Amino acid sequence: LRKIIIDTDPGQDDAVAILLALASPEEIEVLGITAVAGNVPLPLTARNARIVCELAGRPDMAVYAGCDEPLSRPLITAEHVHGKTGLDGPTLPAPTMELRPEHGVDFIIETLRREPEGSVTLCPLGPLTNIATAFRDAPDIIPRLREVVLMGGAYFEVGNITPTAEFNIYVDPEAAEIVFKSGAPIVMMPLDVTHKALVTKPRNDAFRGLGTPAGQAVAEMTDFFERFDKEKYGSLGAPLHDPCVIAYLIRPDLFTGRFINVEIETQSSLTLGMTVADWWRVSGREPNALFIGDVDADGFFTLLTERLARL
Ligand code: BDR
Ligand code: CA
Repeated sequence: LRKIIIDTDPGQDDAVAILLALASPEEIEVLGITAVAGNVPLPLTARNARIVCELAGRPDMAVYAGCDEPLSRPLITAEHVHGKTGLDGPTLPAPTMELRPEHGVDFIIETLRREPEGSVTLCPLGPLTNIATAFRDAPDIIPRLREVVLMGGAYFEVGNITPTAEFNIYVDPEAAEIVFKSGAPIVMMPLDVTHKALVTKPRNDAFRGLGTPAGQAVAEMTDFFERFDKEKYGSLGAPLHDPCVIAYLIRPDLFTGRFINVEIETQSSLTLGMTVADWWRVSGREPNALFIGDVDADGFFTLLTERLARL
């Protein structure tokens, strides 16, 4: 059983990741969910996180609001992908559960200090602002982590917000640099793998076919969310970026990658936020991340559909 904290900016794909985690209590215990500004501003991501918990039948889940802007830059959002609310597509009821009063970063720090050393995995699904702030304010938590399994970056698959940068890293490159240089064990799900987890028509039909509110909502979310990637990349359906993180915790055997050095570009205006991945190990720099490059997509969607059926 893995104890995790989900750090997120929902986002339709974040929502599916949260649903997958909450539907998998045998493998995953969600200690709490921290919202961060990203796809949309913080008030909306904190709201969307609670909407999704209620959709999963978990109004008891602890949801916290974290940082409302990147460490040292203005916030860049992605309404062009996720819609005005961040969760456009289905019509879901306004949340009735409350946000917890504590700051998300304090929750991360206190949880890591309280739980046994090596037992907690952080799952960042948005810009790394909350995580970097926690590492900066409380470096003692870094050796207490089991792992950081994050969605972010791209290398051979290049960028989705600039020609060379993936959105989560681009929004807060200074935060990403702190995390990648922290010495924490990192597993990363870049676009290289997430662009292989596509909601094709039959996969969308399978969600809808569950005949449950969660199945219906996921089908409607992915219907909405596929627009952007279809137009831009001629993709066969919505890429389920963030659920790759949770699927990896349940079925690591579905994924393959390489343990390599990854550094973040924080200076160049041309390539800001690029994850410079030393795939061929030519730099001599120490590996710091397991860079995932491939997924058994059919296995991934079978797992996801089977888990969503439980909600
Ligand atoms: C990432 O950015 C967001 O738009 C998605 O939720 C995902 O976390 C993909 O680049
Ligand atoms: Ca996200």
